[in-house]
Amino acid sequence: MKEFKKRIAAALHDAVSVLWPECGLDTAQLQEMLEYPPDEAMGNLALPCFKLSRTLRSAPPAIASALADKMQECGIAEVSAAGGYLNFRFSYAYLLENVLTAVEAKKDAYGSSDVGTGKTVVLDYSSPNTSKPFHIGHLGTTVIGHSLKLLHEFCGYTCIGINHLGDWGTQNGKQIVAYRKWGDKATVEEKGCDGLVELYVKFHEEAEKDPSLNDQARAEFKKMEEHVPENIELWKWFLEISLKEYNVTYKQLGITFDYYMGESFFSDKMPAQIQIMRDKGLLKLDNGASIVDLSDYNMPPCLILKSDGTTLYPSRDIAAAVYRKNTFAFDKCIYVTSAGQNLHFAQWFKVMELMGYDWVDQLVHVPYGTVSIGGEKLATRTGNVVLLKDLFRQSIEKVYEIMNEKNPDLPNREDVAEAVGVGAIVFHYLYNSRIKDINFTLENALSFEGNTGPYAQYTYARTCSILEKAGDLDLTGDAQITAPEEAALLVVLSKFPEKVDDAVAQYEPSVITRYVIDVCTAFNRFYQNCPILTVEDQAVRASRVRLARAAGTVIRNALRLICIRTPEKI
Ligand code: ARG
Repeated sequence: MKEFKKRIAAALHDAVSVLWPECGLDTAQLQEMLEYPPDEAMGNLALPCFKLSRTLRSAPPAIASALADKMQECGIAEVSAAGGYLNFRFSYAYLLENVLTAVEAKKDAYGSSDVGTGKTVVLDYSSPNTSKPFHIGHLGTTVIGHSLKLLHEFCGYTCIGINHLGDWGTQNGKQIVAYRKWGDKATVEEKGCDGLVELYVKFHEEAEKDPSLNDQARAEFKKMEEHVPENIELWKWFLEISLKEYNVTYKQLGITFDYYMGESFFSDKMPAQIQIMRDKGLLKLDNGASIVDLSDYNMPPCLILKSDGTTLYPSRDIAAAVYRKNTFAFDKCIYVTSAGQNLHFAQWFKVMELMGYDWVDQLVHVPYGTVSIGGEKLATRTGNVVLLKDLFRQSIEKVYEIMNEKNPDLPNREDVAEAVGVGAIVFHYLYNSRIKDINFTLENALSFEGNTGPYAQYTYARTCSILEKAGDLDLTGDAQITAPEEAALLVVLSKFPEKVDDAVAQYEPSVITRYVIDVCTAFNRFYQNCPILTVEDQAVRASRVRLARAAGTVIRNALRLICIRTPEKI
């Protein structure tokens, strides 16, 4: 559609220049005026001619009909006037020569662009707090973040994915206190991350009764900042255990990071930034703590140093941003976190601005809403949490059961169950615009009907099976369109490049998720109404197989962009 829009704008420009040689409108201006009609029955693209009536000093219906006459021969589209609108419908020739051929030529790269070539984007996402459970609240940052990385890469940007682990803070002091009081090496070794979470939960239960434990935790964290070896050793060991577990989940999602560069990495990089704040007169003492007053900007103060001199989350973010700018020379640095951190980001972005960093507008916070499961809110500090790994495991098990029943001979059943089980959750999650709070049920996510991951993956597998059954059918002749469902499918496929642009511009993977459903719907309509392998005419058969293959290519490309695998058989 992007290409179509450009060509229509060029053809429009030709027509306008002949009819109104004095008007001075250029192609870009005309392209801007084009709109998508609310109902595709009217056309695939429209020009609301009232936008031209002032310049051309003519009534919209008159402009529409003059242009429709002039553009009859343009070859790209069927052009018709309807009241004050000029409607364009893809010509079949255009769909075959430009859309089908583009998908076939570009294959895995169909939909990609080079708008980002030469630009670097740093993405900070997932970033769980070590010591706390990796729960389903992290699903958002992990999959939105990775999807945004894949989307930017698809548009030619050089991307650097960073896991900014929350591995440096009072919570790590809590972990040390809890381990020394109630833990032992053998149990933690045996239970891994679960053992650490148990200790963390116990700490909070006990601290309710004995708040002095919190002071102890702060003291242990202070020792970490002072590099006391026993604390650093324990901390490193805990970190190793957490990472091992996160990697299992990341692997299931097919996610890798370019860097694990957590908050601890910046422990020696903060003093320089704090010095700048001091030199600029930004720091104020408040009950012994150092803060930056932001009341002029209607925000509470940004806390930089606690009264015991230990650093805080914002100080580490500031040091990290400066380090990343110096190291990667990014054009944009994207942070994906829950909307609960909106204020935190607004505050430290403002502090950076006050410090004089003139690239602060290259920092982008991408927030998302909360996730709950079965209507229940998730908590981190109690035992009442749904771990991401448990959610994945349950989903995979359910899929495995269904597969054992429906397709017991399928090879690689375990891999496929993982791809479908995990994919279902990711798809369900990424179907909503990111800022919406969502309530999750496994049943809905796993349904094979409706707008779900299994439905999309199944549709993809169907396209693969058609190709496999087609065997060595000759696909080299001229393709043709013989039914409206074929044209409708190609129209949907034509939209993919634009959807990719929209998803990047809005930092919104759901644009792709929803688009996948549009492709699947158009494909299934085509599949229901147009016999493919059984149609008599050889040329029609070959065309339809090619259409199925093109639909498969687009579904695969789109699903990959939202971290979902595409098994060829389900
Ligand atoms: N560790 C934080 C959390 O779990 C998220 C970190 C996001 N990234 C950042 N640079 N602040 O809430």
